[in-house]
Amino acid sequence: MKEYTSSHYSHTPVFAEEIKQFFEKYTHKYIFDCTLGEGGHSEFFLESFLTNIFLVGIERDPVIFQKARKRLERFREKVELINGSFSRLDVYFSRLHRPDPVTCILFDIGISSFHVDESGRGFSFRKSEPLDMRFDPSDGISAYEVVNGFTKEDLADIIYEYGEERNSRRIADLIVRSRKSGKIETSLDLAEIVLKAFPRRRYNRIHPATRVFQALRIYVNNELEEFKLALEKSVEILGSGGRIIVISYHSLEDRIVKRFFKSLSPENYTILTKKPLRPSLEEIKENKRSRSAKIRVLERN
Ligand SMILES: C[S@@+](CC[C@H](N)C(=O)[O-])C[C@H]1O[C@@H](n2cnc3c(N)ncnc32)[C@H](O)[C@@H]1O
Repeated sequence: MKEYTSSHYSHTPVFAEEIKQFFEKYTHKYIFDCTLGEGGHSEFFLESFLTNIFLVGIERDPVIFQKARKRLERFREKVELINGSFSRLDVYFSRLHRPDPVTCILFDIGISSFHVDESGRGFSFRKSEPLDMRFDPSDGISAYEVVNGFTKEDLADIIYEYGEERNSRRIADLIVRSRKSGKIETSLDLAEIVLKAFPRRRYNRIHPATRVFQALRIYVNNELEEFKLALEKSVEILGSGGRIIVISYHSLEDRIVKRFFKSLSPENYTILTKKPLRPSLEEIKENKRSRSAKIRVLERN
């Protein structure tokens, strides 16, 4: 499989070629890229489909949004870019007043390489950055406030529910104890506290902080609720014969997609991926981030 990369941007779009194939059949393509990110997928589609395409890109993070805007500037007549949350998909759709049916809706859920590598908001447990983890730093509470202000019980619940971490209580206990000697300021401080909850031999493959960081990120961004809402809105705006494509990176997200697709009437919707598609070994080799990716596709009859 050909991997699509662009040297100016840190994020490599996952499954770009496969998704393109799912979009190919439409003569007029009206695409919603609900997770614009740095614009990798969008640029790929706009370069691949030269005519009869209109693309709406939605991105919650104001910084990465500006990067995408610059990247897609040359396509300005074919795109509408919106800095906001995909849970308001229906509002953005109605504002556009376009007569053509929506043919493709893409969700590439989660964080972008930008968040880990450049944002400076504490998404990575390998870096010493202020603990924030919000996609939009002007919205909601930061990871710093959660880690330094929440009770032991609430912290344990968040780590268990959104990180699926069995040692959640132990980790929460260590966090609260460590607060007695001062605030937990950075991502690295937090990672070091989490490490103490695990004897070394118990984590050969995945760093123990992975799940805790995932949990905090999901919590501060209200990611799962936003996503559930967006899926509901997406079937409302999808035209007949249109497709929804979701790329997810962990079981919590994938479960939501699977359940949602199954909850729809088979008379009106067809699940095109009985089992989720997985990346090829080649794609994983070229783009490590793709290794946990799953793709599910739904078509409106
Ligand atoms: C995996 S990245 C997308 C990468 C993109 N497909 C590309 O090729 O560059 C996911 C993006 O979704 C954004 N995001 C997360 N929650 C969102 C929401 N509720 N509404 C809109 N965008 C969101 C994140 O800020 C992130 O940039």
